[in-house]
Amino acid sequence: MAMTRESVDLTALTTRIERWFQSNARDLPWRRRRTRWRAYVSEIMLQQTQVSRVVERFEGFMARFPKPRDLAEAPEDDVNALWAGLGYYRRARLLQAAARVMVEKHGGRVPGNMDDLLALPGVGRYTAGAIASIACDQPAPIVDGNVHRVLARIWCDPVAADDREGSERTWQRSQLLVESSSQPAVFNEGLMELGAMVCTPRSPDCRQCPVNRSCAARRQDLVDVIPPPKQRPVQQVEHHHAVGIIRRGRLVVHQRSDRGRWAGLWQVPTVEAARRLRPADICRRVDLPIEQLTHVGAFERVLTHRRVQFHVYRGELARGARLPAAFTWIGRDVDLPVGVAQRKTLEMLHWLDG
Ligand code: ADE
Repeated sequence: MAMTRESVDLTALTTRIERWFQSNARDLPWRRRRTRWRAYVSEIMLQQTQVSRVVERFEGFMARFPKPRDLAEAPEDDVNALWAGLGYYRRARLLQAAARVMVEKHGGRVPGNMDDLLALPGVGRYTAGAIASIACDQPAPIVDGNVHRVLARIWCDPVAADDREGSERTWQRSQLLVESSSQPAVFNEGLMELGAMVCTPRSPDCRQCPVNRSCAARRQDLVDVIPPPKQRPVQQVEHHHAVGIIRRGRLVVHQRSDRGRWAGLWQVPTVEAARRLRPADICRRVDLPIEQLTHVGAFERVLTHRRVQFHVYRGELARGARLPAAFTWIGRDVDLPVGVAQRKTLEMLHWLDG
C-alpha cells in the first residue's frame, strides 16, 4: 500500500486523536448515555443529516421507542411523526424493519458483530463499522466523507471520496489505525469529530489539530487541495405543483403511497412533473376537480440527487363536485405526519403558522 514510505506512526496517531477527543468532544445526546440502541438510532439519523437537526429530535424518538421492540411494534404514523423534520423517510422505514429483525433474530437487541449488523436493512459498511466500534468497542474501520478527508490529508493522497480504488486505500488506512488503537470506540468517534470540527473541507484549523505533525498534506502545503472535489452527478430538477384547497376551515389532504420518497406522509393534492406546468395543465393532471388556481409562492428543496421546485397554489373544489375517496378534509386540530417541504407548503398556505 502506498503509505508514503511508511512514515506514519500509527500508535502515536491513534493515541493523540483519542486524547484530543476525550477533552474536546461535543456534548451530544447520544454521547451522554451510551447503549447499542442509542448508538444505532443516532447513526441512522445522522446519515445525510446535520448533527443539529438530529440533536433536536433524538431524545424525543428514544423516549417513545426506548428499545428495539418498541419501534418494531409501533404504527407507521407514530414513527413518521417522531421522524418528522429529519427527511429521507425511507430511513425510518428501514430502521423499523431493522428493529423487527432484532426482535426476531437477536433477542430484541442490536447485534454486536459486523456480519449481523451488515445484514440489517439500512446498514452499510460505514454504519456497521460505526456501531461495532462506537457501541461495542470492536476494531472495525469507518470511512465517511469526514474520515476520508482526514486520512487523505494525513497520507497526502490526492484522491476524491468517490474514487473507487482511492477510497479502498482510505478503508485500509482506517483499518490499520483502528487496529492499532486500544480504544476503538474513542478513536473512531474522535476521527469523525476531527473531520467535523478541525479538519474541515475549507479553512481547516491545522494549528488546533492533534496530529498536525503527522500530516503529510500539511508538510507539503497541500491541505487546501486534498481531497479534490467529487465528480458531481448531474442533478435532476423536478417541479411539484401543490394545491391548497381550504373551505370552511378545512383542508384537503391525502396520504402518499407507502413506497418511494416521503412514503406514507401526508400532503395537499400535488402534481409532480419534470417541467413547470401551466395552471390549466395542473387542473387537468391533479386527481380531483378543481378550478380557480392562484399562485401563492415557490421554494426549492435540494435532495441528494435532485432539486425539487415547489410551486404552491390555492384552488377551489369545482362547484358541486364531491371529494374523491383518496382525499380527506381535515381541520386545524388534526396533526398528521408531514415532511419538511410539506410543512413549508402549509405555512405558505397559512394553514400552519410559519
Ligand atoms: N456523524 C456520524 N456519526 C456521528 C457521531 N457519532 N457523532 C457525531 N457525528 C457523527
